[in-house]
Amino acid sequence: MNIRPESVRFENHEDGRIGTGEASPRLSWIIPEAPPAWKQEAYAVEVVRESTGAQRFVVTGSEQVLVPWPDAALRSRERARVRVQVRGGAVWSAWSAWAEVEVGLLDRSDWVSQLIAPSWPEDSAELRRPGRLRKVFTVPADIASARLYLTGHGLVEAEINGTRVGDEQLTPGWTSYSHRLRYATFDVTPQLIAGDNAIGVWLGDGWWRGQVGFGSRNVDNYGTRIGALCQLEITDSTGERLIVPSDGSWRASPGPIISSGLYEGERFDARLHDMQWSCADFDQEGWAAVEVLPPVAARLVAPDGPPIRVIEELQPVRIDDRGDGRWILDFGQNHSGRLRLRTNGHRGDIRTFRHAEILLNGEPVYEPLRDAHATDAFICNGEDGYWSPRFTIHGYRFVEVQGWYGPMLPSDVVSQVMHSDMERRGWFSSSDARLNRLHESAVWGLRSNFVDIPTDCPQRDERLGWTGDVQVFAPAATFVYDVVGFLQSWLQDLAVEQETVGHVPLWVPFVQIPILSDYFEVGPTAVWSDVAVLLPHTLYKYSGDLGLVRRQYESAKSFLGAVETLAGADLICPAFAQLGDWLDPAAPPDDPTAALTEKELVATAYFARSAERLAELAHSLGEFTDAARYRRLRERVAVAYAGRFVLPGGLLTSDTQTGYALTTVFHLWPDAAHAQAGAKRLAGLIRAAGWTVGTGFAGTPVIADALTLGGYLADAYRLLQNDQFPSWLYMIKSGATTLWERWDSLRPDGAINDASMTSFNHYALGSVLDWMHTTIAGIAPAAPGFRRIRFAPRPGGTLTSASARHRTPYGEASIAWVDSDHGLHVDVRVPVGTEAEVALPDGITHFVGHGRHSFLADTRN
Ligand code: BGC
Repeated sequence: MNIRPESVRFENHEDGRIGTGEASPRLSWIIPEAPPAWKQEAYAVEVVRESTGAQRFVVTGSEQVLVPWPDAALRSRERARVRVQVRGGAVWSAWSAWAEVEVGLLDRSDWVSQLIAPSWPEDSAELRRPGRLRKVFTVPADIASARLYLTGHGLVEAEINGTRVGDEQLTPGWTSYSHRLRYATFDVTPQLIAGDNAIGVWLGDGWWRGQVGFGSRNVDNYGTRIGALCQLEITDSTGERLIVPSDGSWRASPGPIISSGLYEGERFDARLHDMQWSCADFDQEGWAAVEVLPPVAARLVAPDGPPIRVIEELQPVRIDDRGDGRWILDFGQNHSGRLRLRTNGHRGDIRTFRHAEILLNGEPVYEPLRDAHATDAFICNGEDGYWSPRFTIHGYRFVEVQGWYGPMLPSDVVSQVMHSDMERRGWFSSSDARLNRLHESAVWGLRSNFVDIPTDCPQRDERLGWTGDVQVFAPAATFVYDVVGFLQSWLQDLAVEQETVGHVPLWVPFVQIPILSDYFEVGPTAVWSDVAVLLPHTLYKYSGDLGLVRRQYESAKSFLGAVETLAGADLICPAFAQLGDWLDPAAPPDDPTAALTEKELVATAYFARSAERLAELAHSLGEFTDAARYRRLRERVAVAYAGRFVLPGGLLTSDTQTGYALTTVFHLWPDAAHAQAGAKRLAGLIRAAGWTVGTGFAGTPVIADALTLGGYLADAYRLLQNDQFPSWLYMIKSGATTLWERWDSLRPDGAINDASMTSFNHYALGSVLDWMHTTIAGIAPAAPGFRRIRFAPRPGGTLTSASARHRTPYGEASIAWVDSDHGLHVDVRVPVGTEAEVALPDGITHFVGHGRHSFLADTRN
């Protein structure tokens, strides 16, 4: 067997990403196949750098995930080629293919550019017309390479000589702009020509000064001016570097974008557009001087995660001519993105496109969008071509079109699905097609909401980085996509906001939203703020990235310290300013916090959980004193919890599904007898509810686990496979293509929940995917990064088969089981570099190394 490492990767970056921010990038690789007993005992890394030539570094050990950079640190702009070879026994393997890394601008002094902006006056009471910037420059004949480093206040998109630079969308994304501003790096070598060239930059309001949040016109959150900071660096064949910086020599002009807002949509007048505007010979008569703005105060940082891109295009499944001048397009799937349209109207035609998540009685419903107009408008110039809005994004399945005269053909319009371009990692399938659709819908929920930051919803005037939503959904998310780089970026913002706000805020990046002031003036909120501990814990479990844990450690500790202070001497968290089991089905539409379970119980249970998880993180970091302290704290909280909420006989003061589920899964019962009685009570409650769900954001992620742990697996299956309201499959039965915010976003009487907060694309209730992966299919990491894998399928319900696969950091692991007359057939695949325990439902556990293994479990009685 030919052993050869593959997929050499730097940090958490996608293949070929240039402009990374790590001077000593950690390396990972996978070993696709090796003989059964083979183990990596050493590895060699060959690093080729212009300064030092080729060097080979040999390291003894079995590590292959995020191993330290073996060479001296890289410098700004430096490129290195790397390949890896591994040894098990005496023989070295073949070399991997070369992988390349290129570092971005590491030091502030690398930036010679200035932040520039249009200088005309603007009125912030209105939607402002964004400008464009341009500059002509001369390039020598022998270009070896050219890079564009690009960022700005607001959103930026560059063109060189009439051609768009790169394929990234909504650059630079949304970070805590006052602290961290990301820049993007593009290879623009092929776009330059010897002689005169031009660069142009489109500007958009974006998160910088556009509307963010709801309740009032909440604009200018970071500033009133939008502008670009960009640096074009051209290296010739002798290594000489020519820099074209953004500076006072650029010119500015309003462009054909009349207005653009993330919520509002974009209005584009093609009559004002000259495609040549970013070419050297364009007549820039009338273009004004730019203003050089004060230097960017924030740290300029390279991306940790992937950029937003157009990921795929959806064709309309239906184009409905309403005969009244309106067309309704149905793309068959709720998603986030924008349209790409044919522009073949008559000069002056105004075509409008309003986006909606659902139709009711055949008509689009806009109320759930609240004040987000989600309307794009295109004013035709009589020319044929294609157009997409640049600086807006919508959450929708349907689009209402007006102003389209003549037939509308499938070739006239597609929807471009946009989100952060994370790698797909995990899949699930079963013999119940409804569960497969549930899985798929939750995955679409992730795809719609992982748009540079993890948002709550993609459609209405909100789209904030709500901390609780991603906290509960993270285990599911981490299985289906590689979200580590993406979330690691967001966690850094969480840490900086935590410092400024004084505690972990409910949404990150944090901007003041006056209507929510009650929420942000108080301390940490259970379920939400716990993300500071629980998210690094989840990410570590799935990725093995201890560096990430190290980076977040102070934030996690300081969060828990704040909870300790809040709880005080009795260690019980007060109900004040808690969101509790947010949105359980009993909560009235206008008060989602008025759920059945006591807020103190939810918050104190979470206090114990976070203390336990932080102890584990401290232990992994070798912080043993901390670990012991947090373990003791966790024990004390558990005792306080039992004293306050557990009644004799295994009942709780909150006799609710969520109460029992949290107590069971967080191991808060004082002893086994209580645990048993509590589990029985939980099953009793579920049965009395006809196997419908009674949980909100706090209880939903743990309800199926609690039934499983308590010995009521059959009830867990019945709950999941039930399609009566309220349940997951009720949503699916009602046609959900993404999961809803509320169990009754669409009510059983067919009406839309008229609460002002009703989304059809939230992922929190999709947290049940974790149970589908770990219990139905039965695959979970047993050691960080899946170094040890636990396969423990627990068939049940009406299922006759199920399978899941996941691309672990070591390569693909999978499990498939089929129920037959002979028992349960189980096939697993264990990647090289890992080992697995296969705990079968017949009570037998097998320990196996890498490779494919099959088992038959006797489950016939
Ligand atoms: C969001 C949530 C969020 C909640 C907390 C809502 O408006 O959509 O998902 O977690 O508020 O208050």
